Amino acid sequence: MAAVTPIIPAGGLIRTEPTSPKLLPVRVLVIGSGAREHALVLALRRDPAVTAVNAAPGNAGIAQHAEIRSVDPCSGDEVVALARDVEADLVVIGPEVPLVLGVADAVRAAGIACFGPSAEAARIEGSKAFAKDVMNAAGVRTAHSEVVDSPGELDAALDRFGPTWVVKDDGLAAGKGVVVTADRMAARDHAAECLEMGHPVLLESFLDGPEVSLFCLVDGETVVPLLPAQDHKRVGDGDTGPNTGGMGAYTPLPWLPEQTVTAIVDEVVKPVAAEMVRRGTPFSGLLYAGLAIGQAGPAVVEFNCRFGDPETQAVLAMLDSPLGELLHATATGTLDRVAAPRWKDGAAVTVVLAAENYPGRPRTGDVISGAESAGTGTESEVLHAGTAQRADGALVSAGGRVLSIVGHGADLEAARENAYARLAGIKLPGSHFRTDIALAATENRITVPTTV
Ligand code: GLY
Repeated sequence: MAAVTPIIPAGGLIRTEPTSPKLLPVRVLVIGSGAREHALVLALRRDPAVTAVNAAPGNAGIAQHAEIRSVDPCSGDEVVALARDVEADLVVIGPEVPLVLGVADAVRAAGIACFGPSAEAARIEGSKAFAKDVMNAAGVRTAHSEVVDSPGELDAALDRFGPTWVVKDDGLAAGKGVVVTADRMAARDHAAECLEMGHPVLLESFLDGPEVSLFCLVDGETVVPLLPAQDHKRVGDGDTGPNTGGMGAYTPLPWLPEQTVTAIVDEVVKPVAAEMVRRGTPFSGLLYAGLAIGQAGPAVVEFNCRFGDPETQAVLAMLDSPLGELLHATATGTLDRVAAPRWKDGAAVTVVLAAENYPGRPRTGDVISGAESAGTGTESEVLHAGTAQRADGALVSAGGRVLSIVGHGADLEAARENAYARLAGIKLPGSHFRTDIALAATENRITVPTTV
């Protein structure tokens, strides 16, 4: 039952609004090492009820805001031992692989609150075929699909789709397992490569319309949406080149009709959450709906079982509510008692600075300069992903996506200017970034079908 506060307006009519039960001081352990986890750490540090933030394995930027410990994020035993050692009241698991492997189950079994779904529920991301099954049972609109698990079936199956072909590796592939192409040969090559690795392939019909990432806190059948965001998945300006883990994102979406978030929650996320409960595998954590907003309304492109990267960097820059309280309530089954998140005015844009050759095998070990302000306060605009500190103290690249630069402003244009001005001061040899994050939105070039 929600706590309520009577509000007595001048006219004397009494109405009630939920207020959050006060969160007792909590110590948090964040698992992961990307810019998403850096954003989570900073937002947790802004919550006065969060008294300590540890992170593992973290990165060079997170080390400036949290105590860093080493851990194998995929080992439930190691994560539990570390959580006990740092006396964590709440463990927040950032990436999908530990979730799919059951690390959240191990933490909960040890009696520690955990933000992140069970292995059974994380299958909504871990297996595209499982996600389709849940969506079909829940009556949720999504692309028509077929699973191909042997090379002999491939050509006939490709003939039933395309153009455009959408070919997905039916497993975890960090955003790079999806090929969307008008070239049948390229579609066939990707599918054959997945099959050779022993992974089934999912062929899907192409969903038209602008894409939206909607993150929802989900605790059983309670669903609380965050701000909608848009990712830029292709490596090059104008959505050219191969898919990446995400090259930039922005929020909110000025082109999205106001009622669409409610429609997504009511027609997509709530039915899926209810179906997971019905199956005996309730979802607890962050359910990320990736959608295309087409003629017939929102349709699901994919579900993920965790915060998205890089959208989280922009969404959390806009959050004006205590994050610890929201995550703790989700983890302890009390999300229905927490006040809805409040948001800052304006907009946020994040731009990813990537290492040479990303999304192929990235060059690492290059010195980064100009990113120093990441160490100041908890409103840092430079979030670290693939970074490390060399023995001589120099900051060097250590992964494909190296930094996420976040800009905030009165509107998207101002947020873009802010992010790119900050990025101009950072040097990393061989690096690249997209110059058009949120540009189409600022130029009113994104439209949704009128029936939505
Ligand atoms: N933004 C894409 C992802 O997090 O998978």
